[in-house]
Amino acid sequence: MKTRITELFGIEYPIIQGGMHYVGFAELASAVSNAGALGFITGLTQKTPDDLAREIARCRDMTDKPFGVNLTFLPTFSEPPYAEYIDAIKQGGVRIVETAGRNPKQYMSLLKEAGIKVIHKCTSVRHALKAQEIGCDAVSVDGFECGGHPGEDDIPNSVLLPLAAEALTVPFVASGGMADGRGLVAALALGADGINMGTRFIATKEAPVHQNVKDAIVAATELDTRLVMRPLRNTERVLTNAGVERLLEIEAEKGESLQITDILDQVAGVYPKVMIHGEMDAGAWSCGMVAGLIRDVPSVGELVRRIADEANDIVKKRLGSMITA
Ligand SMILES: Cc1cc2nc3c(=O)[nH]c(=O)nc-3n(C[C@H](O)[C@H](O)[C@H](O)COP(=O)(O)O)c2cc1C
Repeated sequence: MKTRITELFGIEYPIIQGGMHYVGFAELASAVSNAGALGFITGLTQKTPDDLAREIARCRDMTDKPFGVNLTFLPTFSEPPYAEYIDAIKQGGVRIVETAGRNPKQYMSLLKEAGIKVIHKCTSVRHALKAQEIGCDAVSVDGFECGGHPGEDDIPNSVLLPLAAEALTVPFVASGGMADGRGLVAALALGADGINMGTRFIATKEAPVHQNVKDAIVAATELDTRLVMRPLRNTERVLTNAGVERLLEIEAEKGESLQITDILDQVAGVYPKVMIHGEMDAGAWSCGMVAGLIRDVPSVGELVRRIADEANDIVKKRLGSMITA
């Protein structure tokens, strides 16, 4: 397939694996890149810039295809040394960075001087335009259905993507709710140049997470995610579990007076418990509504090929056969 995204990043399929905390290790990023899509290591899952440098080196041993690093600028309890992480990315020869959270304006000159292409992930047209204005090469537009942080506007992709297409000149990918060839074709039809997937890539053989996580995604329906931390204006879409239900009770009790310290047990340090140890009731971990469409755990290669084949069939057979003149 050829779109502005495959051209920009030198990849075979317009499919990206977004950064995912405690999921985006070298094993997954390299498997995605080896499949002809674009894999991302999650920068901040690596506790120090040196750890990130080692993870990049590990990934390079596993693939000779392009891969990137995600740098997330979300509210964290202590500000990470972003400039040092960027240095590790640069020294590691990585030429693609996915930014997310706050816009990366402060770090754009560092990234651009290193010849790095930046794709910024955001949840509104105004933030996408801002990213374009500060020199991002591409944008990932995350609709309300996405796993992780959908922002506070609650606009689903069916409306957000055509609006983004009308407003943007840089290439963009549709993120949130994507799992198969139908999603890819729909995203392209709505004006995007490709798709970004999170949740779907967790339920793959190569994703280096506990089997319980993959099983939970396969078992989940589209009704099983919850929005948490809305009173803090840091909304996150997560898979429901006992920890999340407790979190929601605390949010209901505290109302607008909620502080992050009230819910630390349910949100801090949860990822290693879930992703490494498979403790599925530990608390809040991101998961998209698209879990309702995920029914198996294929290899990454099978998944990418299946999406491309399905998209091809939909365009050539199903849609093609509907054109009568
Ligand atoms: C478990 C998990 C962890 C995530 N962690 C991050 C992260 O650290 N940084 C980031 O920018 N996005 C993160 N995301 C968001 C994904 O990169 C992607 O934008 C999102 O999952 C797309 O929605 P989907 O899950 O419906 O495909 C995470 C998503 C999941 C499911």
